[in-house]
Amino acid sequence: MLKPIKLANENFLSSLDISIEEFFHILKIAKNFKNKDLNIKLEDKVLGLIFDKSSTRTRVSFQVAMSRLGGTTVDLNPSTSQIGRGEPIRDTARVLSRYCDVIAIRTFKHSDLEEYAKWSSKPVINALTDLEHPCQALADFMTIKEEFVDLKNVVLAFIGDGNNVANSLILCGALLGIEVRIACPKGYEPNSLVINKAYEIYKNKNLLKITNDPNAAALGANVLYTDVWSSMGEEKQKEKKDKVFRGFTIDSDLVNKADKDAIILHCLPAYRSKEITDKVFESSKSRIFDQAENRMYSQQALLSCLIS
Ligand code: CP
Ligand code: NVA
Repeated sequence: MLKPIKLANENFLSSLDISIEEFFHILKIAKNFKNKDLNIKLEDKVLGLIFDKSSTRTRVSFQVAMSRLGGTTVDLNPSTSQIGRGEPIRDTARVLSRYCDVIAIRTFKHSDLEEYAKWSSKPVINALTDLEHPCQALADFMTIKEEFVDLKNVVLAFIGDGNNVANSLILCGALLGIEVRIACPKGYEPNSLVINKAYEIYKNKNLLKITNDPNAAALGANVLYTDVWSSMGEEKQKEKKDKVFRGFTIDSDLVNKADKDAIILHCLPAYRSKEITDKVFESSKSRIFDQAENRMYSQQALLSCLIS
């Protein structure tokens, strides 16, 4: 029977916290969970969840994943805990690690997540920060692999804001050695440290392409991916970004530029007629709800590897 391997890193804060072998192992376990071929139990284990930002998919998929594994979750947020009253992260982290076996955190600053990890004696999972969304990328590549089987020749085109989701896709793409194209308006490029890290991993292969032209990015691509234009915490920039991002909508014209068998992904939540048209969102090329479903299996697999 397939057994979860213990990951070399204690935490999963970034897409780069796992090796390529660990990445494929997690996806294999996830697929086995999806096919109901695997029965791993984490009875009595407790996952602590801290959400400093809203969440539907991440919260529920972690809760259901843990419940399917026979464990349980506790869900904290700033208004119902002492976090909102300013209790230092180092104290919260030390207390929660005495109650919980693993902690997943969604917060703003990536450095706050790292502070939790520094003080927690139990594994910490990034459930989204302003810098990265590595759990999302796991489910994304699981979905891409379900479609194309061999990831080697897949060209992934991300059209939109160079934010957390794009950053994790870039890092995963570099890990896998596949071509990743990012099309974003000038000034909304992905994090420069992430870009440099990816170039370093790709060595001298020119497989990461950053452009301001959505058509160039979409041309012949196998996957068209987008995310909201204004992320959580950017509410004040919404009006401006709605204007700047005009022309970066995934619509039928853009889909027609991609490979004829291309699929459409979106991490959700989606704003129709902004980053994606309703027609494309609802089209037969869309794998958006499979992608959302895969969050559960990939996190079930991640939890199994982190704490079993
Ligand atoms: N994609 C994603 O992380 O969704 P939620 O914000 O609903 O968790
Ligand atoms: N970039 C988005 C992702 C939501 C899952 C945000 O941070 O709000």
